[in-house]
Amino acid sequence: MSAIEPTQAAPADQDALAWEYAPAPESRDIVTIAPQYGLFIDGEFRPAAEGATFATLNPASEEKLAEVAKAGPADVDAAVTAARHAYDRVWGPMPGAERAKYLYRIARVLQERAREFAVLESLDNGKPIRETRDVDIPLAAAHFFYYAGWADKLEYAGFGLDPRPLGVAGQVIPWNFPLLMAAWKLAPALAAGNTCVLKPAETTPLTALLLAEVCQQVGLPPGVVNVLTGAGETGAAVVTHPDIDKIAFTGSTEVGKQIAAAAAGTSKKVTLELGGKAANVVFDDAPVEQAVEGIVNGIFFNQGHVCCAGSRLLVQESVADIVVERLQRRLTTLRLGDPLDKNTDIGAINSREQLDKITELSAAGDAEGARRWSPPCPLPGRGYWFPPTVFTGVSQSHRIAREEIFGPVLSVLTFRTPEEAVAKANNTPYGLSAGIWTDKGSRILWMAQRLRAGVVWANTYNRFDPASPFGGYQESGYGREGGRHGLAAYLDA
Ligand code: NAI
Ligand code: MG
Repeated sequence: MSAIEPTQAAPADQDALAWEYAPAPESRDIVTIAPQYGLFIDGEFRPAAEGATFATLNPASEEKLAEVAKAGPADVDAAVTAARHAYDRVWGPMPGAERAKYLYRIARVLQERAREFAVLESLDNGKPIRETRDVDIPLAAAHFFYYAGWADKLEYAGFGLDPRPLGVAGQVIPWNFPLLMAAWKLAPALAAGNTCVLKPAETTPLTALLLAEVCQQVGLPPGVVNVLTGAGETGAAVVTHPDIDKIAFTGSTEVGKQIAAAAAGTSKKVTLELGGKAANVVFDDAPVEQAVEGIVNGIFFNQGHVCCAGSRLLVQESVADIVVERLQRRLTTLRLGDPLDKNTDIGAINSREQLDKITELSAAGDAEGARRWSPPCPLPGRGYWFPPTVFTGVSQSHRIAREEIFGPVLSVLTFRTPEEAVAKANNTPYGLSAGIWTDKGSRILWMAQRLRAGVVWANTYNRFDPASPFGGYQESGYGREGGRHGLAAYLDA
């Protein structure tokens, strides 16, 4: 054992640890949700050509929030045509300094309307208001600010003297960070001079539609941004449309492979940001309390619906007991419940499908012999919920150590030497991110050189900045988003 003194408090003592808090709900009056939403094509909202719609729910209550238009092939064609027109006549020829003004305006309006966006995102997605308010919305604005700064400096970005945009980008995004993923996709594309057809996820369309309203508000020329709501078929129709020049996708590895196959042999440029099964590696010289905070942030942030989540905790054997004990103690203090309550740490699971997947994979953990632990944690009667869960006694062959769960479920494995930590961390078909917790700078560098992951965090986790590139190795996809690198995906360079 390490020199750190063992804790006396068993996790079962949670009553002594948890505080009672009065409810502190954010008001939902700040945002007006229309009963129905159309598609945003050529600067206007309009119903789908075939009149089809679908419902979007609040996953915390299963209450229907709105009915949303479902785009079919005719709508995809109309949006791509509008985007092409805007590219040829307006946005492509516009000087970068002029494009930048629109991006700055969008960024500023996102800040001005931040509370509205935060409440809407929490309602549609189920994530806590603390996260939408402090992470999703400010980071989305930061991406527009950052790429606005590049729009008139593309010739200095290292892609040649006169880098050209690609044309019309088809962008398909997931439900875990709905507005933020829209910003990651739109901001660099627009800065580089492309026009966009964006397809938000079917369970979280509302903030992308509010962003479409912001495009109107800032006077963005019609057709520069188009938003098509719908499910997988709509996404497939966007990416396979012959007049799309560039595909950007974030989502499951399964769909990413289908998209890559469909684009093969065409001139479309593709970037894919797919799943992950990141190792968060804790050495015996790491400050335990800090590491525990990093573990919690790594896997319980956003209910674990994070592609770069630290879902595999690799902890050095000599400190494994104490780290797990402290972690359990910390987890008993997390509050699960109403996403609009400012005290809430863990919100709702985004959909019934995702809840089923988490439940199924956790059951596989039980069946394969891992030990499951959750803090005492009453779940609300309605909505989709899953308690923070820790599996110990996990081996590398277990499904919960290999497959992306995309939920608040941590698999704990141990190691003895740095070499073993590297081997285990890299033993995955993915390679999006990793974390290292140690007191030694030399060890951080030694590990970072050997970990096959696009992002390696040291003594921190899930830290994002628009200036920093993000992307994967292997089945986590290819291409980079964010930073100067993120421009390359949208330039003919
Ligand atoms: P998904 O990959 O099906 O959905 C992501 C987006 O792609 C959505 O907008 C969806 O409508 C669209 N889409 C679905 N099928 C398509 C197709 N054939 N062509 C074009 N677009 C298509 O992911 P899903 O079903 O929501 O989640 C399944 C699993 O994927 C999750 O449990 C998680 O493991 C992983 N995932 C990873 C994400 C990431 O950030 N890397 C985000 C979302 C899910
Ligand atoms: Mg929803």
